Amino acid sequence: MSGVFITFEGSEGGGKTTQVSLLAEALRARGHDVVETREPGGTSIGQTLRQLLLRPHTGRPTDTLAPSAELLLMLADRAQHIHEVILSGLQAGHIVLCDRYADSTTAYQGYGRGFDLAEVAQLNAFVCGVCRPQLTFVLDLPVAVGMERAQERRGTAAVDQFEAASVSFHERVREGFLAIARAEPERVCLIDATQDIEAVHTAVLAGVRKHLPTLL
Ligand SMILES: Nc1ncnc2c1ncn2[C@@H]1O[C@H](COP(=O)(O)OP(=O)(O)OP(=O)(O)O)[C@@H](O)[C@H]1O
Ligand SMILES: [Mg+2]
Repeated sequence: MSGVFITFEGSEGGGKTTQVSLLAEALRARGHDVVETREPGGTSIGQTLRQLLLRPHTGRPTDTLAPSAELLLMLADRAQHIHEVILSGLQAGHIVLCDRYADSTTAYQGYGRGFDLAEVAQLNAFVCGVCRPQLTFVLDLPVAVGMERAQERRGTAAVDQFEAASVSFHERVREGFLAIARAEPERVCLIDATQDIEAVHTAVLAGVRKHLPTLL
């Protein structure tokens, strides 16, 4: 595959969506073909799965996904996304920028929900196959700051299952992303997401220059 696969990871409100679009703009300005996509919901079928995964939180058991159902729907979304979007983008030689990917499953369903990390890694490997990111940005910030940003952006819309989860859940998710960054420094670039948008973008560009120097 001749393309380049870059993912953005981290807790809610860290600025992933904002930074994907800024990096896409910078790469396009240098003449690259860029595919911007996201999980869950990067395909039409995935949009339906996203609605199930991020439905408004009511607290009623009949409205709440079983943790294993949540894990499997996330993986189903990824399988469809790779099949329809990511693989073809990489085979066409494009730069694929993905807002959340396999590390989010490790952090949320592994560290957060408590599924065995080795089992989650096996499932991710089964679904991802050769579609592994060359570079991943983890946008890190304290849980309270991320929740505040996500809340401001949401306005009066209902909270989803993840936003409704406990602070300790979100702390475990953050720890999960930090552990991934520590374990794979050759792939993962950890960025302090409490900085302003421009400073984070500058750090992202520096990460691309360091890890993938031919792109910029
Ligand atoms: N560095 C920053 N400083 C302050 N506010 C920011 C920063 N980056 C993004 N924001 C704002 O915080 C909110 C969340 O940003 P964004 O949607 O990019 O985060 P996200 O990581 O994609 O969140 P989610 O995981 O919930 O999709 C937005 O209103 C955005 O404008
Ligand atoms: Mg986002």
